[in-house]
Amino acid sequence: MQTPYYLIDKSALLPNLEKIAELRAASGAKALLALKCFATWSVFDLMAEYMDGTTSSSLFELKLGRETFPGETHAYSVAWADHEMAEVIANSDKVIFNTAGQLRRFEAESRDHVRGLRVNPGVSTSDFDLADPARPFSRLGEHTPEAIEPVADLISGFMFHNNCENGDFDRFDAMLGQIEDRFGALIRRMEWISLGGGIHFTGAGYPLDRLAERLKRFAGENEVQVYLEPGEAAVTNSTSLEVTVLDTLDNGKKLAIVDSSTEAHMLDLLIYRESAKMTPDAGPEEWMICGKSCLAGDIFGEFRFPEALKPGDRLSILDAAGYTMVKKNWFNGVKMPAIAIRELDGSVRPVRDFTYDDFVAALS
Ligand SMILES: Cc1ncc(COP(=O)(O)O)c(C=O)c1O
Repeated sequence: MQTPYYLIDKSALLPNLEKIAELRAASGAKALLALKCFATWSVFDLMAEYMDGTTSSSLFELKLGRETFPGETHAYSVAWADHEMAEVIANSDKVIFNTAGQLRRFEAESRDHVRGLRVNPGVSTSDFDLADPARPFSRLGEHTPEAIEPVADLISGFMFHNNCENGDFDRFDAMLGQIEDRFGALIRRMEWISLGGGIHFTGAGYPLDRLAERLKRFAGENEVQVYLEPGEAAVTNSTSLEVTVLDTLDNGKKLAIVDSSTEAHMLDLLIYRESAKMTPDAGPEEWMICGKSCLAGDIFGEFRFPEALKPGDRLSILDAAGYTMVKKNWFNGVKMPAIAIRELDGSVRPVRDFTYDDFVAALS
């Protein structure tokens, strides 16, 4: 296949899915894929065998989940527009409002639907302000029991999302305790509670049994059905971005320019000022891998190689699934990476290519 392309490896996806299934079985919690993180529907047939459905952040994600992923479909958005609500209700099993104001606004229209409210517990594991749902003045959810109390009878569940790539079970446990201390009386009036995403429970060494026990206890003591909304945890380490070196130069550092771009194809690297991951990253040669867009800082990172790079060399940039494929864009008109799937039997199946016509169609 011609590069650039994203390669989703089903046999690398599978261990994540098996951990999700193990957690569901041991805890009784249901797991909904967060489409904001990963929406490449060509692998949903496999994912749906291990998960209960999807959750969304917009009407379009909601409809995609309904159409392509069997099971439950949760509808959440930071703010719904008036013209969306009929479709939101038609395509969802539950609708979760971000504020009491939105709940009241759509009260009549959603009366016969299962409804929930996002609650912001004011604590989080994010240390990056941009991504911290509990940042000062956060618009993400209602912050106080006093604000929730007047609408509590209109809903049957809450959604909390305050973890962020949290691989520390004790921290999760402590924060859930804080949530129970502060919102326990309200939680016990509900039938279901979503604890959102951001729990890195598919990571190596995560104490899955302790998480399962904690979730089961939370569900039992509060008499609620627990939901989790994993995104990154479901797809971590499953996908690479396959690229080719187009040119090399030495400007005090050895530079290689590849047929891709961070800004267009791995935007999160720029947003969160992170380096890509590459394999192998060992050997005497140190090279800076650069994108082909005009952005001066379009740099994937610096890596080690066994030999000097040259045009035509193929490179694999790792961990290109979560918050990556969903954010690809047409900046600079750089060829959008195709999508391929490595099936469980090892065969590679191209599932999508993007052409000049797609570039033209993205604007008018
Ligand atoms: C409400 C909600 N649920 C689930 C997720 C998925 O989180 P993650 O991909 O970290 O598991 C997010 C991420 O921002 C979110 O905002």
